Amino acid sequence: MSDGDRLLSGALEADEAGLEQTLRPRVLDEYVGQEKIVANLRVFIQAARERGEPLDHVLLFGPPGLGKTTLAHIVAREMGAPLRSTSGPALERAGDLAAILTNLEPGEVLFVDEIHRLGPAVEEILYPALEDFQIDLVLGQGPAARTVKLTLPRFTLVGATTRAGLISSPLRARFGIVHRLDFYPPSELTRIVRRSAGLLGIDADEAGAEEIARRSRGTPRIANRLLRRVRDFAQVDGSARLDLAAARRGLGLLEVDEHGFDELDRKILGTLIEVYGGGPAGIQAIAAAVGEDRGTIEDLYEPYLLQEGFLQRTPRGRMATRRAYEHLGRTPPAGAPGQLF
Ligand SMILES: Nc1ncnc2c1ncn2[C@@H]1O[C@H](COP(=O)(O)OP(=O)(O)OP(=O)(O)O)[C@@H](O)[C@H]1O
Ligand SMILES: [Mg+2]
Repeated sequence: MSDGDRLLSGALEADEAGLEQTLRPRVLDEYVGQEKIVANLRVFIQAARERGEPLDHVLLFGPPGLGKTTLAHIVAREMGAPLRSTSGPALERAGDLAAILTNLEPGEVLFVDEIHRLGPAVEEILYPALEDFQIDLVLGQGPAARTVKLTLPRFTLVGATTRAGLISSPLRARFGIVHRLDFYPPSELTRIVRRSAGLLGIDADEAGAEEIARRSRGTPRIANRLLRRVRDFAQVDGSARLDLAAARRGLGLLEVDEHGFDELDRKILGTLIEVYGGGPAGIQAIAAAVGEDRGTIEDLYEPYLLQEGFLQRTPRGRMATRRAYEHLGRTPPAGAPGQLF
Protein backbone atom coordinates (compact mmCIF):
# COMPACT_ATOMS: atom_id res chain seq x y z
CA MET A 1 0.00 0.00 0.00
CA SER A 2 1.46 3.33 -0.99
CA ASP A 3 1.23 6.36 1.24
CA GLY A 4 -1.17 7.92 -1.23
CA ASP A 5 -3.71 5.17 -0.58
CA ARG A 6 -3.36 5.51 3.09
CA LEU A 7 -6.14 7.22 4.87
CA LEU A 8 -4.14 8.09 7.91
CA SER A 9 -0.80 9.29 6.61
CA GLY A 10 0.74 11.50 9.26
CA ALA A 11 2.36 13.94 6.87
CA LEU A 12 0.09 16.18 4.90
CA GLU A 13 0.28 16.23 1.14
CA ALA A 14 1.35 19.57 -0.27
CA ASP A 15 -2.09 20.63 -1.47
CA GLU A 16 -3.57 19.47 1.80
CA ALA A 17 -1.59 21.89 3.93
CA GLY A 18 -3.21 24.80 2.10
CA LEU A 19 -6.57 23.16 2.41
CA GLU A 20 -6.24 22.80 6.17
CA GLN A 21 -5.69 26.54 6.28
CA THR A 22 -8.91 27.14 4.37
CA LEU A 23 -10.97 24.81 6.51
CA ARG A 24 -9.48 25.74 9.86
CA PRO A 25 -11.95 27.49 12.18
CA ARG A 26 -10.62 30.96 13.07
CA VAL A 27 -12.54 31.76 16.26
CA LEU A 28 -14.01 29.77 19.15
CA ASP A 29 -17.53 30.18 17.75
CA GLU A 30 -16.53 28.29 14.61
CA TYR A 31 -14.80 25.49 16.52
CA VAL A 32 -17.14 22.49 16.56
CA GLY A 33 -17.36 20.23 19.63
CA GLN A 34 -14.86 19.81 22.53
CA GLU A 35 -17.43 21.81 24.45
CA LYS A 36 -15.79 21.72 27.86
CA ILE A 37 -12.46 22.89 26.51
CA VAL A 38 -14.07 25.66 24.49
CA ALA A 39 -16.17 26.81 27.46
CA ASN A 40 -13.15 26.87 29.76
CA LEU A 41 -10.95 28.69 27.28
CA ARG A 42 -13.67 31.26 26.72
CA VAL A 43 -13.70 32.10 30.44
CA PHE A 44 -9.91 32.14 30.83
CA ILE A 45 -9.47 34.30 27.73
CA GLN A 46 -12.13 36.79 28.82
CA ALA A 47 -10.68 37.00 32.32
CA ALA A 48 -7.12 37.52 31.06
CA ARG A 49 -8.27 40.18 28.61
CA GLU A 50 -10.17 42.03 31.32
CA ARG A 51 -7.05 42.09 33.47
CA GLY A 52 -4.96 43.16 30.50
CA GLU A 53 -2.68 40.17 31.01
CA PRO A 54 -1.56 37.41 28.69
CA LEU A 55 -3.33 34.07 29.03
CA ASP A 56 -1.74 31.43 31.26
CA HIS A 57 0.35 28.81 29.41
CA VAL A 58 -1.76 26.17 27.67
CA LEU A 59 -0.90 22.50 27.04
CA LEU A 60 -3.05 20.62 24.53
CA PHE A 61 -2.71 16.92 24.01
CA GLY A 62 -4.52 14.22 22.07
CA PRO A 63 -4.31 12.16 18.89
CA PRO A 64 -3.36 13.78 15.55
CA GLY A 65 -5.92 15.74 13.55
CA LEU A 66 -8.27 16.63 16.43
CA GLY A 67 -7.66 20.37 16.34
CA LYS A 68 -4.69 21.23 18.58
CA THR A 69 -2.94 23.52 16.09
CA THR A 70 -6.30 25.02 15.21
CA LEU A 71 -6.97 25.86 18.88
CA ALA A 72 -3.53 27.43 19.28
CA HIS A 73 -4.29 29.82 16.42
CA ILE A 74 -7.73 30.54 17.84
CA VAL A 75 -6.28 31.36 21.28
CA ALA A 76 -3.97 33.96 19.72
CA ARG A 77 -6.76 35.46 17.65
CA GLU A 78 -9.19 35.63 20.57
CA MET A 79 -6.49 37.25 22.71
CA GLY A 80 -5.84 39.72 19.90
CA ALA A 81 -2.19 38.68 20.07
CA PRO A 82 0.33 37.75 17.39
CA LEU A 83 1.32 34.10 17.09
CA ARG A 84 4.68 32.57 16.42
CA SER A 85 4.96 28.86 15.60
CA THR A 86 7.79 26.46 16.10
CA SER A 87 8.22 22.84 17.14
CA GLY A 88 10.19 20.69 19.54
CA PRO A 89 12.45 19.18 16.86
CA ALA A 90 13.14 22.63 15.31
CA LEU A 91 14.55 23.93 18.60
CA GLU A 92 17.76 21.98 18.54
CA ARG A 93 19.94 24.16 20.73
CA ALA A 94 19.15 26.23 23.78
CA GLY A 95 20.23 29.28 21.77
CA ASP A 96 17.45 28.65 19.19
CA LEU A 97 14.83 29.00 21.89
CA ALA A 98 16.59 31.92 23.60
CA ALA A 99 16.61 33.82 20.29
CA ILE A 100 12.88 33.34 19.87
CA LEU A 101 12.04 34.19 23.48
CA THR A 102 14.03 37.41 23.56
CA ASN A 103 12.33 38.58 20.37
CA LEU A 104 8.75 38.01 21.51
CA GLU A 105 6.37 40.91 21.67
CA PRO A 106 4.49 41.49 24.92
CA GLY A 107 1.46 39.18 25.03
CA GLU A 108 2.60 37.15 22.02
CA VAL A 109 1.49 33.52 21.76
CA LEU A 110 4.35 31.11 21.18
CA PHE A 111 3.08 27.84 19.76
CA VAL A 112 5.41 24.86 20.21
CA ASP A 113 4.16 21.79 18.37
CA GLU A 114 5.47 18.34 19.32
CA ILE A 115 6.61 19.81 22.61
CA HIS A 116 7.48 16.32 23.89
CA ARG A 117 10.49 16.43 21.57
CA LEU A 118 12.35 19.29 23.26
CA GLY A 119 15.91 18.42 24.28
CA PRO A 120 16.88 18.66 27.98
CA ALA A 121 19.08 21.76 27.49
CA VAL A 122 16.23 23.55 25.72
CA GLU A 123 13.78 22.58 28.46
CA GLU A 124 16.13 24.02 31.08
CA ILE A 125 15.88 27.44 29.43
CA LEU A 126 12.14 27.14 29.22
CA TYR A 127 11.46 26.60 32.94
CA PRO A 128 12.42 30.08 34.23
CA ALA A 129 11.03 31.62 31.04
CA LEU A 130 7.61 30.14 31.75
CA GLU A 131 7.61 30.79 35.46
CA ASP A 132 9.35 34.13 35.92
CA PHE A 133 9.63 35.40 32.32
CA GLN A 134 13.39 35.35 32.67
CA ILE A 135 16.21 33.44 31.05
CA ASP A 136 19.82 32.95 32.00
CA LEU A 137 22.07 33.49 29.03
CA VAL A 138 25.68 32.36 29.02
CA LEU A 139 27.90 34.87 27.22
CA GLY A 140 31.39 34.02 26.07
CA GLN A 141 33.25 30.78 26.56
CA GLY A 142 35.73 29.20 28.96
CA PRO A 143 36.96 31.13 32.01
CA ALA A 144 35.67 34.42 30.58
CA ALA A 145 32.11 33.12 30.35
CA ARG A 146 29.50 34.85 32.42
CA THR A 147 25.79 34.50 32.93
CA VAL A 148 23.33 37.31 32.44
CA LYS A 149 19.71 37.28 33.43
CA LEU A 150 17.39 38.64 30.80
CA THR A 151 13.83 39.66 31.49
CA LEU A 152 11.39 38.60 28.81
CA PRO A 153 8.12 40.20 27.83
CA ARG A 154 5.17 38.34 29.33
CA PHE A 155 3.95 35.81 26.79
CA THR A 156 1.73 32.74 26.49
CA LEU A 157 3.17 29.37 25.56
CA VAL A 158 0.78 27.00 23.84
CA GLY A 159 2.29 23.53 23.69
CA ALA A 160 0.80 20.66 21.70
CA THR A 161 1.61 16.98 21.76
CA THR A 162 0.21 13.64 20.72
CA ARG A 163 2.17 12.01 23.55
CA ALA A 164 1.32 13.49 26.91
CA GLY A 165 3.15 10.60 28.55
CA LEU A 166 6.46 11.78 27.14
CA ILE A 167 6.33 15.25 28.70
CA SER A 168 8.55 15.63 31.74
CA SER A 169 6.69 16.45 34.94
CA PRO A 170 8.56 19.72 35.64
CA LEU A 171 7.53 20.99 32.19
CA ARG A 172 3.96 19.84 32.56
CA ALA A 173 3.69 21.49 35.97
CA ARG A 174 4.38 24.88 34.42
CA PHE A 175 1.21 24.93 32.35
CA GLY A 176 -1.74 26.57 34.07
CA ILE A 177 -4.26 25.25 31.54
CA VAL A 178 -4.05 21.61 30.43
CA HIS A 179 -6.60 20.04 28.10
CA ARG A 180 -6.95 16.67 26.48
CA LEU A 181 -8.80 16.60 23.16
CA ASP A 182 -11.05 13.62 22.59
CA PHE A 183 -12.26 11.93 19.43
CA TYR A 184 -15.41 13.61 18.09
CA PRO A 185 -18.79 11.86 18.09
CA PRO A 186 -20.38 11.35 14.63
CA SER A 187 -22.91 14.15 15.19
CA GLU A 188 -20.14 16.72 15.62
CA LEU A 189 -18.15 15.33 12.71
CA THR A 190 -21.26 15.64 10.56
CA ARG A 191 -21.36 19.34 11.40
CA ILE A 192 -17.68 19.62 10.51
CA VAL A 193 -18.22 17.84 7.16
CA ARG A 194 -21.15 20.10 6.32
CA ARG A 195 -19.18 23.18 7.26
CA SER A 196 -16.21 22.08 5.13
CA ALA A 197 -18.49 21.15 2.22
CA GLY A 198 -19.95 24.66 2.40
CA LEU A 199 -16.50 26.25 2.35
CA LEU A 200 -15.39 24.08 -0.57
CA GLY A 201 -18.59 24.58 -2.55
CA ILE A 202 -19.55 20.90 -2.36
CA ASP A 203 -23.25 20.09 -2.48
CA ALA A 204 -23.39 17.46 0.29
CA ASP A 205 -26.69 16.48 1.88
CA GLU A 206 -27.17 15.47 5.52
CA ALA A 207 -27.13 11.70 4.88
CA GLY A 208 -24.01 11.92 2.72
CA ALA A 209 -22.21 14.02 5.33
CA GLU A 210 -23.31 11.64 8.09
CA GLU A 211 -21.93 8.64 6.25
CA ILE A 212 -18.53 10.29 5.85
CA ALA A 213 -18.59 11.43 9.49
CA ARG A 214 -19.37 7.93 10.79
CA ARG A 215 -16.34 6.51 9.02
CA SER A 216 -13.84 9.21 9.98
CA ARG A 217 -12.49 7.68 13.18
CA GLY A 218 -13.66 10.59 15.29
CA THR A 219 -11.10 12.83 13.55
CA PRO A 220 -11.85 16.11 11.72
CA ARG A 221 -8.72 15.89 9.56
CA ILE A 222 -9.82 12.48 8.27
CA ALA A 223 -13.39 13.70 7.76
CA ASN A 224 -12.13 16.57 5.60
CA ARG A 225 -9.85 14.24 3.67
CA LEU A 226 -12.61 11.70 3.00
CA LEU A 227 -14.97 14.49 1.97
CA ARG A 228 -12.59 15.62 -0.76
CA ARG A 229 -11.87 12.15 -2.03
CA VAL A 230 -15.52 11.15 -2.09
CA ARG A 231 -16.26 14.36 -3.96
CA ASP A 232 -13.71 13.31 -6.59
CA PHE A 233 -15.45 9.99 -7.14
CA ALA A 234 -18.86 11.63 -7.32
CA GLN A 235 -17.59 14.19 -9.81
CA VAL A 236 -16.02 11.60 -12.10
CA ASP A 237 -19.27 9.61 -11.93
CA GLY A 238 -21.00 12.71 -13.25
CA SER A 239 -23.08 13.31 -10.15
CA ALA A 240 -23.02 16.83 -8.77
CA ARG A 241 -24.61 15.98 -5.45
CA LEU A 242 -22.84 14.19 -2.63
CA ASP A 243 -25.68 12.10 -1.20
CA LEU A 244 -25.75 8.82 0.72
CA ALA A 245 -25.27 6.66 -2.37
CA ALA A 246 -22.34 8.75 -3.58
CA ALA A 247 -20.75 8.69 -0.13
CA ARG A 248 -21.12 4.91 0.18
CA ARG A 249 -19.74 4.29 -3.25
CA GLY A 250 -16.74 6.58 -2.75
CA LEU A 251 -15.93 5.20 0.69
CA GLY A 252 -16.20 1.67 -0.68
CA LEU A 253 -13.74 2.48 -3.44
CA LEU A 254 -11.39 4.00 -0.85
CA GLU A 255 -11.65 0.73 1.11
CA VAL A 256 -12.75 2.55 4.24
CA ASP A 257 -14.98 0.13 6.09
CA GLU A 258 -17.95 0.86 8.33
CA HIS A 259 -15.69 1.61 11.31
CA GLY A 260 -13.44 3.87 9.26
CA PHE A 261 -10.66 1.30 9.31
CA ASP A 262 -8.21 1.23 6.46
CA GLU A 263 -5.97 -1.59 5.30
CA LEU A 264 -3.38 -1.10 8.03
CA ASP A 265 -5.98 -1.27 10.83
CA ARG A 266 -7.15 -4.59 9.45
CA LYS A 267 -3.56 -5.74 9.06
CA ILE A 268 -2.74 -4.87 12.68
CA LEU A 269 -5.76 -6.78 14.00
CA GLY A 270 -5.25 -9.64 11.54
CA THR A 271 -1.57 -10.03 12.49
CA LEU A 272 -2.35 -9.97 16.18
CA ILE A 273 -4.92 -12.70 15.70
CA GLU A 274 -3.21 -14.88 13.12
CA VAL A 275 0.46 -14.55 14.03
CA TYR A 276 0.22 -14.00 17.77
CA GLY A 277 -2.89 -16.02 18.59
CA GLY A 278 -4.71 -12.87 19.68
CA GLY A 279 -1.83 -11.65 21.88
CA PRO A 280 -0.52 -10.39 24.14
CA ALA A 281 2.12 -9.11 21.72
CA GLY A 282 4.52 -6.20 22.06
CA ILE A 283 3.99 -3.11 19.92
CA GLN A 284 7.48 -3.56 18.44
CA ALA A 285 6.68 -7.09 17.29
CA ILE A 286 3.39 -6.01 15.76
CA ALA A 287 5.08 -3.08 13.99
CA ALA A 288 7.73 -5.38 12.52
CA ALA A 289 5.14 -7.92 11.38
CA VAL A 290 3.00 -5.36 9.56
CA GLY A 291 6.05 -3.51 8.21
CA GLU A 292 5.17 -0.17 9.73
CA ASP A 293 6.97 2.25 11.97
CA ARG A 294 6.14 1.78 15.64
CA GLY A 295 5.47 5.48 16.23
CA THR A 296 2.94 5.58 13.38
CA ILE A 297 1.02 2.71 14.92
CA GLU A 298 1.14 4.18 18.42
CA ASP A 299 0.18 7.69 17.31
CA LEU A 300 -2.19 7.18 14.42
CA TYR A 301 -3.75 3.75 14.68
CA GLU A 302 -3.75 2.45 18.21
CA PRO A 303 -5.64 5.24 20.04
CA TYR A 304 -8.79 4.73 17.99
CA LEU A 305 -8.58 0.92 18.07
CA LEU A 306 -8.27 1.13 21.87
CA GLN A 307 -11.08 3.64 22.27
CA GLU A 308 -13.44 1.59 20.11
CA GLY A 309 -12.62 -1.58 22.03
CA PHE A 310 -10.86 -3.54 19.27
CA LEU A 311 -7.58 -3.65 21.14
CA GLN A 312 -6.69 -3.89 24.78
CA ARG A 313 -3.45 -2.77 26.31
CA THR A 314 -2.17 -5.08 29.04
CA PRO A 315 1.13 -5.04 30.93
CA ARG A 316 2.29 -7.93 28.73
CA GLY A 317 1.32 -6.38 25.40
CA ARG A 318 -1.62 -5.72 23.11
CA MET A 319 -4.51 -8.15 22.89
CA ALA A 320 -7.23 -8.50 20.25
CA THR A 321 -10.71 -8.27 21.75
CA ARG A 322 -13.81 -10.25 20.86
CA ARG A 323 -14.86 -7.29 18.79
CA ALA A 324 -11.69 -7.54 16.70
CA TYR A 325 -12.31 -11.23 15.96
CA GLU A 326 -15.90 -10.53 15.03
CA HIS A 327 -14.93 -7.62 12.82
CA LEU A 328 -12.62 -9.88 10.83
CA GLY A 329 -15.34 -12.51 10.57
CA ARG A 330 -13.77 -14.95 13.03
CA THR A 331 -15.05 -16.70 16.09
CA PRO A 332 -13.39 -15.30 19.20
CA PRO A 333 -11.69 -17.90 21.42
CA ALA A 334 -12.97 -18.27 24.98
CA GLY A 335 -10.05 -16.28 26.42
CA ALA A 336 -10.42 -13.19 24.22
CA PRO A 337 -11.05 -10.04 26.25
CA GLY A 338 -14.51 -8.54 25.92
CA GLN A 339 -15.34 -5.06 24.87
CA LEU A 340 -14.17 -2.20 27.01
CA PHE A 341 -17.66 -0.80 27.45
N1 LIG B 1 -13.22 21.48 16.25
C1 LIG B 1 -13.06 21.58 14.92
N2 LIG B 1 -14.03 22.11 14.16
C2 LIG B 1 -13.88 22.17 12.82
N3 LIG B 1 -12.79 21.73 12.16
C3 LIG B 1 -11.80 21.21 12.87
C4 LIG B 1 -11.86 21.11 14.29
N4 LIG B 1 -10.74 20.56 14.74
C5 LIG B 1 -9.98 20.31 13.67
N5 LIG B 1 -10.61 20.70 12.53
C6 LIG B 1 -10.11 20.53 11.16
O1 LIG B 1 -9.15 19.49 11.16
C7 LIG B 1 -7.92 19.92 10.63
C8 LIG B 1 -6.80 19.36 11.48
O2 LIG B 1 -6.76 20.03 12.72
P1 LIG B 1 -5.37 20.42 13.41
O3 LIG B 1 -4.32 20.66 12.38
O4 LIG B 1 -5.65 21.53 14.35
O5 LIG B 1 -5.05 19.10 14.21
P2 LIG B 1 -3.86 18.77 15.23
O6 LIG B 1 -4.52 18.26 16.47
O7 LIG B 1 -2.97 19.94 15.35
O8 LIG B 1 -3.12 17.57 14.51
P3 LIG B 1 -1.55 17.11 14.62
O9 LIG B 1 -1.40 16.40 15.93
O10 LIG B 1 -1.37 16.16 13.47
O11 LIG B 1 -0.72 18.35 14.50
C9 LIG B 1 -7.98 21.46 10.63
O12 LIG B 1 -7.45 21.98 9.47
C10 LIG B 1 -9.45 21.78 10.67
O13 LIG B 1 -9.92 22.02 9.37
MG1 LIG C 1 -1.01 20.20 14.72
